[in-house]
Amino acid sequence: MHIKRKIKEYWDSRSKSYDKSPGHASLPEIWKEVLSNVFDNRMKILDVGCGTGFISLILSELGHDVVGLDISRDMLKVAIEKAKKKGLNVQFKLGDAENLPFKDNSFDAVICRHLIWTLPNPKKAISEFARVSRHKVVIIDGKWMDKSPIARFRRGFGRLLIALYEKRNPFRDFHYRKEINESLPFYGGTNPETIVEIFKEIGLKPYVTDLSWIRDLLRKDLPMVYKIAWGRREYFIVQGVKSSPIH
Ligand SMILES: C[S@@+](CC[C@H](N)C(=O)[O-])C[C@H]1O[C@@H](n2cnc3c(N)ncnc32)[C@H](O)[C@@H]1O
Repeated sequence: MHIKRKIKEYWDSRSKSYDKSPGHASLPEIWKEVLSNVFDNRMKILDVGCGTGFISLILSELGHDVVGLDISRDMLKVAIEKAKKKGLNVQFKLGDAENLPFKDNSFDAVICRHLIWTLPNPKKAISEFARVSRHKVVIIDGKWMDKSPIARFRRGFGRLLIALYEKRNPFRDFHYRKEINESLPFYGGTNPETIVEIFKEIGLKPYVTDLSWIRDLLRKDLPMVYKIAWGRREYFIVQGVKSSPIH
């Protein structure tokens, strides 16, 4: 609980600056296309760890009935404000991904983007997604941190340049404290194979798509300092379908 409180405090403090970081609210049209291929019918979708609502709002624009859930009240405040400005009817709810406040099969689908790396018990959360979804579970994530010495050096050097270039402390923004990191099994990111294994264990039929091209697109337009800090990253979407499809 102590760890979750710390995580929540971190995201509360990140809420105002979150959308400004590259990759967080970038390439909305590309994401619209990706998501329209993932959800074809009009669906009731839960976006877990919705943050400032990037995915929730796109899904709503695509005509889905969307609920966004997050542990951080301040991230949700930003999401609510953005939905209001766009005139979108998205419901936002405070809650924990590992104990979803919904009955079984409440949604047609559950999605999360960039969430599982920051969960103390990602397997429990994915089981929760499967519990509340009638049909599909979708996870978008990546291998955020290459831990090889050369990648560490490049990252450290890149962040130093970001600190000088943007006059902010990227070491604080990019990292939880060590105490938190150690409680997160997927801290630094994960790979699709690990998600596929979990999906199979809980009875979801997995389907993996590579999304590294989105990271490449993002990198292309980034200031050089980010190009140095980022390196090339594995980025993917894993869709898991329950055996009996929705009617
Ligand atoms: C990296 S942000 C991703 C936000 C959004 N999904 C996106 O793609 O832009 C991670 C989000 O997960 C939320 N989060 C962290 N732990 C959570 C938990 N246990 N339950 C629900 N949300 C959580 C954070 O508050 C934060 O908004």
